Amino acid sequence: MSRELLAVVRTRFRDEALQRGVSPRDVDLLLSDLLGQSPAWVFSHGDTMVDPAPLEQLLKRRFDGEPLQYIRGRTEFFSHDFVVDDRVLIPRPETEILVETAIARAKPGARVVDIGTGSGCIAISLEKARPDLRVTGVDLSLDALAVASINRRRLSSNVRLAASNLMASIDAEVDLVVTNPPYIAATEIAALAPEVRLFEPMMALTPGVTGMELIERILTQSRSRLALTGMIIMEIGYGQDQQVRAAAEEATWVVDEMIPDLAGVDRVVVLSRRGSE
Ligand SMILES: C[S@@+](CC[C@H](N)C(=O)[O-])C[C@H]1O[C@@H](n2cnc3c(N)ncnc32)[C@H](O)[C@@H]1O
Repeated sequence: MSRELLAVVRTRFRDEALQRGVSPRDVDLLLSDLLGQSPAWVFSHGDTMVDPAPLEQLLKRRFDGEPLQYIRGRTEFFSHDFVVDDRVLIPRPETEILVETAIARAKPGARVVDIGTGSGCIAISLEKARPDLRVTGVDLSLDALAVASINRRRLSSNVRLAASNLMASIDAEVDLVVTNPPYIAATEIAALAPEVRLFEPMMALTPGVTGMELIERILTQSRSRLALTGMIIMEIGYGQDQQVRAAAEEATWVVDEMIPDLAGVDRVVVLSRRGSE
């Protein structure tokens, strides 16, 4: 094992990252994981002797296009640390808008189902913020549920998890559906960044040719599963707002609100049977 000064190793790999179009910050985060220290510590302890080999191995994966979150095995969402790997979609910052909306709008004690829970990021964040809610996360992917179950345990959450094709396995009436369904049209997959297209589960990205397939099924199924005062809070894709409005009208849901993300793109839709009182 050859040892080198941390400052030398850090500079060498940060330079290589820049040349390969990868953020140099990724080098600091991986060093911080490997050394069990904060990025600030890594920056200020350049005279420490380290073995560069483990970093080199992790960076090879990063330079081959694997998302940093999968290499680190975790990511932050709604101020919680979630375990992630290639069995689940990496939680996106815009999905926090959905969680904030659900926290603000769920009635006390509401029975909530998170359809397509993936890592469990929505269900668990919601339940941690609103312990009065009875939250169930469902997913068709058993692999995804295994990751959600790790997060449930690590974050001491009380959410229930169930394998289910949408809400097929949910017997009781539901007050609130929260969901970030796969909504990318299959025809658009080829245009996605390789980091997404080659590494994230296809089942989490696309539901079919139009991208609307699961959204339409959720809108239809929710008619019979939701209480009369029930509500759906759903994340939608870029430019999908008009299609979703039309599908909602078709399934006789009323759009109460369209909430934009920081880029001004309509991102979260709130639906009820009669519109907000
Ligand atoms: C876009 S990901 C969302 C994951 C997570 N909720 C998030 O926001 O990061 C969609 C999830 O829906 C799941 N899924 C796809 N088809 C499904 C179906 N028919 N029933 C239930 N879940 C499904 C996928 O396995 C995936 O975990």
